[in-house]
Amino acid sequence: MVGHRIERTEDDIIKEAMHEMPYGIYVIGTTAEGRPNAMIADWVMQVSFSPRLVMVAFERDSSSLGRVRAHGYFTVNLLNQEGNGMALAAKFVQPSNPVKVKGRTGDASVRPPVDKLAGINTHPSERAPGCPILDDALAYLECQAEQILEVGDHVVVVGRVLYGEVQHSGEPLTSTYTGWSYSG
Ligand SMILES: Cc1cc2nc3c(=O)[nH]c(=O)nc-3n(C[C@H](O)[C@H](O)[C@H](O)COP(=O)(O)O)c2cc1C
Repeated sequence: MVGHRIERTEDDIIKEAMHEMPYGIYVIGTTAEGRPNAMIADWVMQVSFSPRLVMVAFERDSSSLGRVRAHGYFTVNLLNQEGNGMALAAKFVQPSNPVKVKGRTGDASVRPPVDKLAGINTHPSERAPGCPILDDALAYLECQAEQILEVGDHVVVVGRVLYGEVQHSGEPLTSTYTGWSYSG
């Protein structure tokens, strides 16, 4: 029997290289019209010392981006490897809108948004008014959106860091630790 060799395309090769990029695992807290939300994000980084700025790349159709556009603030929660960090992260690996999950159609379109924060201990940020801070986060930042940039298939929000604090000791949760990939 003649075996078939599956050829990798150049795109497969690039994707494999980009999968090697390590990321932190962050939970972005947002709110609008009194309805807070939290989404997991890898694409978060500091981009300026003075002023202190961070950027987050949002999927165009994420409800979190809608909240940032409407309200202008967000929190960045850095999860902890210790304790329940991994279980906590797992609670956020879905969009709040069930229709956004690939392959879900029909019934999903009439399902109400998922409340990812149900049963999770949070307190509302003062400086990023109402945006959730996770009580178990290793550290958090409170940010005000300064620039919103359309970039490829994501939207980059550059936020000024108004305040931030380490809440617990431990090691930060990373994509290397979880094995989850959001790249390529
Ligand atoms: C490990 C992981 C990393 C993710 N990183 C990002 C990210 O950097 N930006 C983003 O917009 N969505 C990211 N997502 C997807 C969102 O968490 C989520 O599916 C959705 O887009 C947010 O929807 P919501 O704002 O309506 O809750 C990631 C998902 C996973 C599982």
